[in-house]
Amino acid sequence: MSAPRFRVAEPADAEQLIGLMVRTFRETYSSDHFGICRPADVEEYIAEYFGPEVQQAELADPAMRTILADCDGELAGYGQLRLGSASPAAPGPRPCEVARFYVDRPWQGRGLAAQLMRECIRAAGDADPLWLGVYEHNRRARAFYAKCGFVPVGRSTFRMGGDVQDDCILALQPNRP
Ligand SMILES: CC(C)(COP(=O)(O)OP(=O)(O)OC[C@H]1O[C@@H](n2cnc3c(N)ncnc32)[C@H](O)[C@@H]1OP(=O)(O)O)[C@@H](O)C(=O)NCCC(=O)NCCS
Repeated sequence: MSAPRFRVAEPADAEQLIGLMVRTFRETYSSDHFGICRPADVEEYIAEYFGPEVQQAELADPAMRTILADCDGELAGYGQLRLGSASPAAPGPRPCEVARFYVDRPWQGRGLAAQLMRECIRAAGDADPLWLGVYEHNRRARAFYAKCGFVPVGRSTFRMGGDVQDDCILALQPNRP
């Protein structure tokens, strides 16, 4: 596998992106290490948000910016920014949410996630704050975000299908190195 190239997604990427979204979401939340997410809730979320119409609309939305890690035409990960999306836990003048951040399993633990986050931070420009929500039981993601300079600023809830989960809200520290 050659080194990944990072680029902003276009509407033509929708089909391949949806494949990656569905696969990584299922792997993340249906896997044993959480053990708490019901498969029916996972599938309900997938049906609600990862269909072609929703994704075509998100890719065309100027407030959304999707960064892809592309390895020879195969997608290895993606980060989705929602410009202007605010959280009461992370007030600031130019909020931007990292709404989704997923790296395909063969690429986890290999540094690609850190590169992808750097690209997302670059794409967020002068966002203040850059923030995200992470499932409280997702220890690996929380450890990764801490390495990237995100710190806990509050809590929120996240609806997955019929389940309401507790999320930690993190914000990127200002004046990071
Ligand atoms: C979260 C994610 C992007 C992190 O990327 P990654 O390549 O796995 O990250 P890294 O290996 O660089 O860092 C993860 C850190 O978690 C910790 N970690 C590694 N494996 C772990 C495990 N099985 N359980 C708990 N923590 C773990 C380590 O501290 C590791 O850092 P270190 O090896 O430098 O000490 C990636 O794992 C992923 O896409 N996961 C599935 C999707 C997801 O959960 N997205 C976040 C949604 S909010």
